[in-house]
Amino acid sequence: MAIQISPSILSADFAHLADEAAAVSPSADWLHVDVMDNHFVPNLTLGLPIVESLRKAATTPLDCHLMIEDPDRWAPAYAEAGAGSVTIHAKAANAPVRTLREIRRLGARAGLALNPAEPVEPYADLIGEMDMLLLMTVEPGFGGQKFLDMVLPKIRKAREILDTRQSSVWLQVDGGVSAETIERAAEAGADVFVAGSAVYGAQDPAGAVDTLRSLAAKASPLA
Ligand code: DX5
Ligand code: ZN
Repeated sequence: MAIQISPSILSADFAHLADEAAAVSPSADWLHVDVMDNHFVPNLTLGLPIVESLRKAATTPLDCHLMIEDPDRWAPAYAEAGAGSVTIHAKAANAPVRTLREIRRLGARAGLALNPAEPVEPYADLIGEMDMLLLMTVEPGFGGQKFLDMVLPKIRKAREILDTRQSSVWLQVDGGVSAETIERAAEAGADVFVAGSAVYGAQDPAGAVDTLRSLAAKASPLA
């Protein structure tokens, strides 16, 4: 699987989301949409109505990252709204298998996210139920935090689990990904990279996406 870059609009100008989406198109593979409910994480961002509008306004597929309580109840609507990918947090879900299956049934790719302190091994048997595993490289809730190097061994472990199972599940990292850190994450086996401040804080967001992609591609052990 080729390297993919998913710029996070959390660091974009929320008053001009359509323009901000256009600013990374066509360089970006996805547009990462951080949905926060002020309960699962101590921050509040946006929800379904904005995702529905952005889906119509943007040409890049939406990668919705739900940092919300009760994703079993809310996640399917994001798939119905036309998100290309919907990721739920493992510890927020009561019925992750059912919810991942429901996301897929509604036509989106299904993702499962783990916080920095959550081990990946207990989820190895769920690999067949997902299209993407997201390993958070910061505690979720805010953009602009420092990449946590302590997650690197878990990225390697996850890559090993996927390779052993000959799985095509994507391995995404999110948080603190920049030109300084992306090579470490790529070398460890990640193949989908979320970057907020490193893209939208740059003078040329599309150029920043291209730079991140080429750094990751050079460092990646994946073919
Ligand atoms: C954090 C969000 C991230 C955030 C990343 O909870 O899930 O997607 O936007 O921002 P940066 O790349 O600035 O760490
Ligand atoms: Zn995110």
